[in-house]
Amino acid sequence: MVLRYLSGPDIGGASAEIIKRFEAENPGIKVEMVEGPAATNIRENMYSTSFMGGEATYDLAYMDVVWVPKFAAQGWLRPLDDWFTPKMQTEFLPGDVLGSTYGGKIYRIPVQSDGGMLYYRKDLIAQAGLKPPKDWPDLVRIAKKLQNPPALWGYAFQGKQYEGLVCDYLELMWGNGGRVVGEDGKILVDSPEAIEALRWLVDAVRKHGISPEGVLTFQEEEARHLFQEGKAVFMRNWPYAWNLVNGEGSPVKGKVGIMPMVGAEGRGGAATLGGWGWSISAYSKHPEEAWKFAQFATTVEMLKISYEKGGIIPARRSLFKDPEVLAKSPHFKELYDVLTDARPRPVHPMYARISDALQLHVSAALAGQETPEEAMKGAADEMRAFIERRRK
Ligand code: GLC
Repeated sequence: MVLRYLSGPDIGGASAEIIKRFEAENPGIKVEMVEGPAATNIRENMYSTSFMGGEATYDLAYMDVVWVPKFAAQGWLRPLDDWFTPKMQTEFLPGDVLGSTYGGKIYRIPVQSDGGMLYYRKDLIAQAGLKPPKDWPDLVRIAKKLQNPPALWGYAFQGKQYEGLVCDYLELMWGNGGRVVGEDGKILVDSPEAIEALRWLVDAVRKHGISPEGVLTFQEEEARHLFQEGKAVFMRNWPYAWNLVNGEGSPVKGKVGIMPMVGAEGRGGAATLGGWGWSISAYSKHPEEAWKFAQFATTVEMLKISYEKGGIIPARRSLFKDPEVLAKSPHFKELYDVLTDARPRPVHPMYARISDALQLHVSAALAGQETPEEAMKGAADEMRAFIERRRK
């Protein structure tokens, strides 16, 4: 029998290796990874279409943390409580477990923990007698001083109209004291804090010129390539990039520093909580085999392979104390703190709609088609319309 799932490109070949080992230990079970596009929101649509039709195409879903509330609320996932017991859950980072839970049930076993970080060229900064930035104005100052476009840009980030842009933007919004939704359910994305955060990002491209216009087509990998080729001083990205930019043959190997994302002047920065894990489709005809694979792929040994080959940060606590991992990754201690403080995107069954509104308008502002005020008012109006309509 064959277990099938959809995921993004297998960076570094970690998934292929895990599948190979699983199949060797489990004769009779084959695992087929269907490689989809890199953007998480597009894969979410692909899974949604399949599940909406009640299809058994995918036995497992390799799930972004933000899909959990919607997929669980729709009844597309099998609750894992009988298999993934509370005791087993304590072996994983609490944010990843919480993000796998909906309505009191657990729907996902975490693989990867994720939180936005700031990468910088420690060699260039030290040569200029400077220090890593402490806030946004500092980052702009250093970037302007060191850059020499188009050979060397100041700041690379994820500027394409997709989920990654929302993650980047929310870090800035939180780093300026803003919020998407208040305690009372009120939409707050048109607050002055939220508008100012967008203005900072727009200015990075359009006023300060520290980010290339091409950043409007960047997802994670495009930003990493620019940075890895030595063409950017700073990069906002997820921790997966660390192993890759420091890999054999990387022009910036050993020249890279990593730190928590900076915030507005006088404020602390914030990280968006990301992360991935295994869920089992409610329509799968092979749930037991699927669980066997999910369990295998999240053992200490397999998570080490995922980290070494693909840079995937393990969601298991013990790996943050693993001498083998620590020897190669001195930043893991600080990373642990960033991950445990990372902030979730709004946990809502309609998160995809919230994100679409942000993707559209933040992107329009970056392209110069809307002012930051118009953009955030537009996003807020759309969110109010569908969230209020739903309440009636
Ligand atoms: C990373 C995160 C995920 C996020 C995505 C956006 O993969 O882990 O949560 O949605 O980036 O591009």
